[in-house]
Amino acid sequence: MNDLAGKHIVLGLSGGIACYKAAELCRALIKEGATVQVVMTEAAAQFITPVTMQALSNRPVYTSQWDSREPNNMPHINLSRGADAILVAPCSADFMAKLLHGRADDLLSLMCLARPIESVPLLLAPAMNREMWAHPATQRNMAQLSADGAHILGVGSGFQACGETGDGRMLEPAELLEDLIALFQPKAMAGQQVLITAGPTFEAIDPIRGVTNHSSGKMGFALARAAREAGADVTLVAGPVSLATPRGVQRIDVTSAQQMLDATLDQVPTASVFIATAAVADWRPAAPSEQKIKKDGTGQVPALTLVENPDILATVARGERAGSGRLFCVGFAAESQDLVAHAKAKLARKGIPLIVGNIGAEAFGRDDNQLVLVDPHGVQELPRASKLDLARQLIAEIARRMRTPA
Ligand code: CTP
Repeated sequence: MNDLAGKHIVLGLSGGIACYKAAELCRALIKEGATVQVVMTEAAAQFITPVTMQALSNRPVYTSQWDSREPNNMPHINLSRGADAILVAPCSADFMAKLLHGRADDLLSLMCLARPIESVPLLLAPAMNREMWAHPATQRNMAQLSADGAHILGVGSGFQACGETGDGRMLEPAELLEDLIALFQPKAMAGQQVLITAGPTFEAIDPIRGVTNHSSGKMGFALARAAREAGADVTLVAGPVSLATPRGVQRIDVTSAQQMLDATLDQVPTASVFIATAAVADWRPAAPSEQKIKKDGTGQVPALTLVENPDILATVARGERAGSGRLFCVGFAAESQDLVAHAKAKLARKGIPLIVGNIGAEAFGRDDNQLVLVDPHGVQELPRASKLDLARQLIAEIARRMRTPA
């Protein structure tokens, strides 16, 4: 929870009803360890008071380019020089148009124009009515701002304050926070296409019941987020879990092992890294009933015949060995004892360059974990940490191994 420690963020507010979300965003930035300097336009101050933003950021808010608190009377220079990033949230249609033309007739636009363009990234979180968002002028401005180096964070969709429904809502504070944190992560996976399986699978006995396990999917989802933060394009094939999709990750939901295999094989041709974190059910009922199996009153228990599921990781790895061999495959081993010995055996059996071992009971459902990395060169421990921390370390380790193959 300190992903922004040591970062100084200038949070700009332009005029829009989404200003109410900027208060929560400010709190979230502070909780993550950032210092926050709020700058507001005159229009923003119509929607939320500088007093609120000062109380939340613990710093006086700047609203005017003529602010005499600055000894040189140049807040546009002073505020932008110390920033690690400027985030304008909400960014109104009018403010985007202003930025596009390099206009500088109030403090926020003046500061954006005056920022050192190479070292202070500018992130924009648009917020407007759906017609304003869809208008060719706005779309044109957005494309040009992007070409000029701004990061446009996209918009949400849904019910709008005006009563209409569509695209143009400002992203939620948690989404903006995730994007900002991602900006500061090293880009060790830039240009890579990462494919990840996550969660349990569910093998139907009948339409109501099935065979599954306790995997929460948290490690796989954390890896998807870490890979995307590291600059990769990420596809996540997820079994039945109730987790939010990490920002910018393409998610394919599946239920059974066979569906997970099919979805994975569809994606393999474009992937460069495959990480199998899913706890795939080893067996499935041989002949699932189409109707619910009923008790017949005799106390007799239905016989359940199981057949083995396909091994997704082994199938992919085998295909790679027979084909181009450019896909870097990583497996997970969830064990209850003799972790390193089992992991070494799996490395050989599955024919892959890296296995990540963990003790199942100390990992499933928890937010933290500890890992051992087993490859042909030896064993490396990643001590107990949050799953997101471990995921970032593991992504860096995978990137390092891809640069220097065994
Ligand atoms: N895996 C897979 N498909 C399966 C079973 C496992 O893709 N049907 C992958 C898992 O995602 C994990 C690795 O293989 O990356 C190891 O899974 P695990 O169940 O721990 O090992 P198994 O090979 O099934 O061996 P065992 O059950 O004997 O421990």
